[in-house]
Amino acid sequence: MSMLNVPIARTSLTPEEVESVLEPLRSGWLVQGPKVREFEEKWSAFTGAGHSIAVTSCTAALYLSLLALGFGPGDEAIVPAFTWVATANVVELLGGNVVFCDIDLETFNIDPEQIEARITSRTRAILPVHLFGLAANMEAIGTIAKKYGLWVVEDAACGFGAKQHGQHVGIFGNAGCFSFHPRKAITTGEGGMITTHDAALAEKLRRLRDHGAAVSDLQRHLGPRPYLLSDHTEAGFNLRMTDIQAALGSAQMNRASDILAERRRLAARYNQAFADLGWLRTPLCPKGFEHGYQSYPCLFMPEQTRRAAAARDAETIHEVRCLRNEWMDALQRKGISTRPSTHAVHMLSYYQHKYGLKPEDFPNAWAANDCSISLPLFHGMTNAEQEYVIYEVRQASFSDIRLL
Ligand SMILES: Cc1ncc(COP(=O)(O)O)c(C=O)c1O
Repeated sequence: MSMLNVPIARTSLTPEEVESVLEPLRSGWLVQGPKVREFEEKWSAFTGAGHSIAVTSCTAALYLSLLALGFGPGDEAIVPAFTWVATANVVELLGGNVVFCDIDLETFNIDPEQIEARITSRTRAILPVHLFGLAANMEAIGTIAKKYGLWVVEDAACGFGAKQHGQHVGIFGNAGCFSFHPRKAITTGEGGMITTHDAALAEKLRRLRDHGAAVSDLQRHLGPRPYLLSDHTEAGFNLRMTDIQAALGSAQMNRASDILAERRRLAARYNQAFADLGWLRTPLCPKGFEHGYQSYPCLFMPEQTRRAAAARDAETIHEVRCLRNEWMDALQRKGISTRPSTHAVHMLSYYQHKYGLKPEDFPNAWAANDCSISLPLFHGMTNAEQEYVIYEVRQASFSDIRLL
């Protein structure tokens, strides 16, 4: 097969979507105006959320949601140990403390069975993450949150299209936070969205993103006396999305279902092509869940990795990691980009030092950090590109490798 260059992800925009950014540029309304409102309305319609509030990133969304709920200094939040660092950083930035919880190695999501043991008298919130497009088990997490009176802020950065029991993520907890970074299915370059059913919380979030203004510029301009300035009822930020970004997001929402269907079709093709490879565990989608496939996270040498995680066996995890890295190098030489699926946050130096943590404290997150591999998956991926990845993955053989 002739060599192709296949990136881990590639932004795919239609000519109409590219054109869409010109509308606010021509109209002159550039910041949090009619296009932001339109994008928010489409987001609510797609997810089933009562309210959607656009902001500058998912990190901003997480920060603002916790702040608006009342999370503050000394409070603890339970965060999965395997996630993008932003989930934990927002807790630290609010003066709180992160309490990590291990994940289930099969789903890469927080293991609900380990949450209760992590709850203390200072716990205020659980931050489940719907990693890579698979919903965390919100039924189980909701039961725990209710029992202990905890807030749930969903990190749905990768959650576009992720559902449990037919309900879209982002509306199980008090708030849901989405990302529109270019690695996500819908992108605005940078951008984020908060979803909630709570009207009072939504109002507070709208004020906090806009300097604490009681009335937004759009409301003022649509009202009878646009020249009167708003009162500011609290000290807020400027975390407003631009209309240029929102126009792009809104245009992509017109084909939201097609984007999702295409990602699912690509994942199904991979699942089928790799079903017989014992050394590569493709992403699971448990019964009752619908996967959005923000990416295609696999577990490399799953048998050995599972056993090593359970035994906290550093040597085997190290060996699998070395083999995985060599394989990633080999694929890169063939033009195929891969990535570790994400990182174990408790192994990053800030968290390691602040909380005195060791990799083996959260063995599944450690194993996922060292032994996961994401393959290229993005809407707009051509058949030739996917066939090439499938061919090259199947060329590798790790079945007869003996580890220590
Ligand atoms: C799980 C998770 N949480 C939070 C974020 C942060 O999103 P943003 O870059 O929009 O701030 C990301 C981004 O990759 C993510 O994957």
